[in-house]
Amino acid sequence: MNEQEKKNAALKAVTYIKEGQIIGLGTGSTAYFAIQSVGEMVKEGLTIKAIPTSEETKKMAAALAIPLADINEVTAIDITIDGADEFDSKLQLIKGGGGALLREKIVASITQQQIIIADSSKQVEKLGAFKVPVEVIPFASNAVARKLSALNGRAVLRNRNGQVYLTDQHNYILDVDFGLIDDPAALAKELDHITGVVEHGLFIDLASMVICGKGNVVTIYQ
Ligand code: 5RP
Repeated sequence: MNEQEKKNAALKAVTYIKEGQIIGLGTGSTAYFAIQSVGEMVKEGLTIKAIPTSEETKKMAAALAIPLADINEVTAIDITIDGADEFDSKLQLIKGGGGALLREKIVASITQQQIIIADSSKQVEKLGAFKVPVEVIPFASNAVARKLSALNGRAVLRNRNGQVYLTDQHNYILDVDFGLIDDPAALAKELDHITGVVEHGLFIDLASMVICGKGNVVTIYQ
């Protein structure tokens, strides 16, 4: 399913990486192709340090012998390559389908060039067909769900294999259906202010560019 489009977008994205840079590595099936490619570049002699956005990506990077850096030991990240669940024409995003939204947003927030890679199914006119992932402190999950309901959001607690899904930070995720979102920036602000919300998957003004695979072509939006 769109694997070639994901791979084409990823292969284009890695051409932006330069020698000596600090690179943020995203999470998910599209970022996978970029990480593989960075692994090959490192094998061929590229000197970079990488900051993974999840435990899953950390394992993958380590297996490919990509040198890792501690995010607390850097002041900025040069380039991050990450996926998205949806993007619109203003490069606003929904992320977090893979559950890594908190570290992804922290990494994005200190990244100079945030490159989003996507297959063509991720491009939308209005965000919101994909439910907005909201990471919550387990203690607050019902209280937050009620607040979300007051914002016309129907929240469902994420499960995996019959168990409540836990993030890398051992929090829960509520997947929230707001319908199509007229003003993602305004909704993001509302979510920022709910006590018990750790982070949410609306990424506003964080993407520098989106590289989207469509058939055999890649289109760059910036
Ligand atoms: C993980 C993410 C992913 O980037 C997003 O879910 C897209 O994943 P995929 O590339 O597998 O479609 O935000 O938290």
